[in-house]
Amino acid sequence: MKNIKIFTAFILVLFGANVIAASSNVKLESANTDISDYDSLKRGAKHFMNYCSGCHSIELMRYNRIGQDLGMSEDEVVSDLLYAGSKPGEKMKSAISTSASTKWFGGTPPDLSLTSRSRGVDWIYSYLKGFYPDAKRTFGVNNHVLANASMPDVLWSLRQSKSAEAFDQDVRDITNFLDYVGEPAKLVRVDLGIKVMLFLAVLLVLSYLLKKEYWKDVKYGKWKAK
Ligand code: HEC
Repeated sequence: MKNIKIFTAFILVLFGANVIAASSNVKLESANTDISDYDSLKRGAKHFMNYCSGCHSIELMRYNRIGQDLGMSEDEVVSDLLYAGSKPGEKMKSAISTSASTKWFGGTPPDLSLTSRSRGVDWIYSYLKGFYPDAKRTFGVNNHVLANASMPDVLWSLRQSKSAEAFDQDVRDITNFLDYVGEPAKLVRVDLGIKVMLFLAVLLVLSYLLKKEYWKDVKYGKWKAK
């Protein structure tokens, strides 16, 4: 009984913590990303290089690691990911210098290696879609998710050029890519997890049959401890 009480208290604390964590005043859109969709990850990587890497680094990643993980050929890595002059084995640095970024944004744009872990994919997705015009801000835009963000609406031209669904898919791809970057092992972990669960399910059936076999000769009621 005591154990049940402790367990219930534990669950309540867990849920309570969740409610507090989620109680931000903006409602986040669901990113609906799928880490096992390699085409989406590749598109996301390409978009990241085109639209984000000018300002943001991903210091914990090297170009050739991404190529390996996503099954890209060496040519694809060079044409889709690399800046002219950089090498496949290098870390993903941003193109902007610290002095220039301090001048324009009042600080260095944060490294995005672990942002999917700290903020979550729904946050990133909603943030990228959350820009709205605001004449009071330096770049003429503000953000619903991160109030007074000093980042310009960099996907503006992309949004103008296509349908709302196609644009959502682009943002989803970039978010998916950042999710992968936050934990590259997730590609293997999720796949392995499903296999392990299947294995355990089969093992459960076998162990149950074995247990029945062992106990079938035991007559209940007649057995006495010596
Ligand atoms: C022109 C430079 C610039 C470009 C290009 C840019 N950003 Fe930013 N970004 C910033 C700055 C500056 C901040 C800091 C905003 C703040 O905290 O006020 C920021 C903040 C962010 C954050 C919030 C990080 C956090 O945890 O607070 C995310 C996520 C982000 N950017 C993603 C992106 C993505 C994805 C792209 C490409 C689609 C991109 N950015 C392109 C300058 C840029």
